[in-house]
Amino acid sequence: MDPIQIQKAADVLRKSRNTIAFTGAGISVESGVPPFRGENGIWEKYDPKTLELGFFMNNPTASWKVIRELFYNYFGTAKSNNAHFVLAEMEKRGLLKCVITQNIDNLHQQAGSVVVHEFHGNSQNLVCLSCHRYFKPDDIDFDKLPPYCGDCGGLIKPDFIFFGEGIPMEAYQNSVEAAGRAEAVILVGSTGEVMPAAQMPYLAKQNGATIIEVNTEMSKFTNTITDHFIQGKAGEVLTELFFSLTGEELKTK
Ligand code: APR
Repeated sequence: MDPIQIQKAADVLRKSRNTIAFTGAGISVESGVPPFRGENGIWEKYDPKTLELGFFMNNPTASWKVIRELFYNYFGTAKSNNAHFVLAEMEKRGLLKCVITQNIDNLHQQAGSVVVHEFHGNSQNLVCLSCHRYFKPDDIDFDKLPPYCGDCGGLIKPDFIFFGEGIPMEAYQNSVEAAGRAEAVILVGSTGEVMPAAQMPYLAKQNGATIIEVNTEMSKFTNTITDHFIQGKAGEVLTELFFSLTGEELKTK
């Protein structure tokens, strides 16, 4: 982690009157949630096909077995890490307007972030595909897959976006608006592989924003739109960045 880059990034954030964050799976790796790509990536072990909408509709049991293991048995116990807490604290102090996240793990909200635009939905919500009744994970008997709605018998699906599914309109519009107004973007833990989510930092850049990228590796953003690349783990880098910006140690709950 380069202290000079941390200071330069802190200077940008001090001057910015409108800072947003854009986060990907990498921000949750230190919470024990594996990324999708790269080392220990989910797609090394599971076939992304199981999360395609068409496959889910035709093979709900097979798809649900992967969903349960990945998003409810495994992710369900994850806790927010310092990176999530720094962004929540910055929002509380008026130093961050919002988080645009590709993640469905609810760890930004768990850390206290309020304005979170979830590009790919949230695994804490499930919905009946017939009557559109909403459920929470506690309402579901994960021993009986696939789960069916008690009211109408419809198939229940997690309310996060499968491949082939449209982006939630409200999250998309709010993210485009936020990216269009941003003067600085803190871009954390994303390969930039998946559109249209990865368009948001590009949109901010087009509108004159300064891009601060935090990642353990270079990404598709690094040599295209990133102004300050800080190589390192999100939790460690954002804790240092917070200290450089505020002169205070981060106090987690
Ligand atoms: N700190 C910071 N960055 C990290 C860390 C860490 N501790 N560990 C890994 N990373 C970085 C990796 O270098 C990589 O750039 O996080 C990124 C993870 O990349 P992906 O798994 O592709 O995550 P993301 O960009 O969010 O994927 C986008 O793909 O499969 C879909 O819907 C899924 O939302 C997801 C989307």
